[in-house]
Amino acid sequence: MKYDFDKEINRLNTNSYKWDLMGEDYLPLWVADSDFEVPPAVTERLKKGIEHGIYGYFLTGNEIYDVLSLWFKEEYGAEVPGKRWIKLLPGIVPALAVASNIGGGKSIVNTPNYCNLLEAPETAGNVMIRVPLRNDNEYYTIDFEALEEKITEDTKVFYLCNPHNPVGRVYTLDELKKVSEFAKKHELIVVSDEAHCEVVFEGEHIPFFMVDDYAREHSITLYSNGKLCNVPDLILAFAVIPNKELKEEFERLGYAFGEEHILNVEAGIATYGESKEWKKQLISYLKANRDYLENELKLRFPRAKVVHLESTFLEWVDFRSYGEDVNADFFKENARVFLTDGEDFGGTGYVRINFATRRAILTEALDKMERALAERLK
Ligand SMILES: Cc1ncc(COP(=O)(O)O)c(C=O)c1O
Repeated sequence: MKYDFDKEINRLNTNSYKWDLMGEDYLPLWVADSDFEVPPAVTERLKKGIEHGIYGYFLTGNEIYDVLSLWFKEEYGAEVPGKRWIKLLPGIVPALAVASNIGGGKSIVNTPNYCNLLEAPETAGNVMIRVPLRNDNEYYTIDFEALEEKITEDTKVFYLCNPHNPVGRVYTLDELKKVSEFAKKHELIVVSDEAHCEVVFEGEHIPFFMVDDYAREHSITLYSNGKLCNVPDLILAFAVIPNKELKEEFERLGYAFGEEHILNVEAGIATYGESKEWKKQLISYLKANRDYLENELKLRFPRAKVVHLESTFLEWVDFRSYGEDVNADFFKENARVFLTDGEDFGGTGYVRINFATRRAILTEALDKMERALAERLK
């Protein structure tokens, strides 16, 4: 069966954060939410749950853990022994906040980075030491020298985003081993946010807990089905924590996470266990959108700096060679295209373009942006 990702679906007036925040005058290519219908298996499982019509306290059975263990085995060759290593979560963001309390010290993180990854630990009352990634012509790498310079004795947690939103890197085994060595040297726990691991176009995603012995025993690796399967509001998120004491500590600190909900778990089983072909086809649609967008940006805005994404559906672009103020606000006011401002990610001046949408919308947005800039340059 071929899935139709070009199908028109109106999302206006559906209480969609992405579409209804700004309303019909704007094309929304901002928050990391996609415009595709969910995999059919999700709808089937939800229907079954709803038809039963009773929503009493839910007993989370083994099925979800078995599905996740099989997913790890098939995707990464990893042996993840269900509940022993997995903690189900209400979302990645609350886990990012809670993890910063481990060890009672500061945390260290690279910028630019996913806004909530930067802010959740701070909101939880902890200090984040921000260290820029190295940028060589829009190819970003972890700058270990800069990390060594900035780290303090009381730093306890390293936050990694892999694949990295917003710079689109899929870190190599060599890079991840260096992260693990750095963490070992400074006795850090690594919190690895792998929310985008299912959207990989180039390279090979390696779960952090698989990198080496230190990584296995000193990491909290976070996942959710929100991104590729577009169920951020019906999320199944989870942490993999192989070390027993660390898992117990995380669960103690995260007591208020509460229990899981029946429909989220059903959707989790459908997305991780029953949607392989749908995901494969969507990744190929997204890859074509990435190629199209990167090409069109280069043709239409030759002076812009465009990242070549290895992963994620979030393009990272610097238009400032056209004027310091050619940023997200500029395109919002002049093109009525709503993008994410890089400032939110510690990447001043950049914009982030979400291309997980129908190709026709992407083309319309590019046309509007091109016209607005041409008008400006007149
Ligand atoms: C890197 C990263 N982590 C986490 C999230 C959100 O995770 P969740 O919706 O599971 O809380 C996002 C959403 O864009 C993200 O980009």
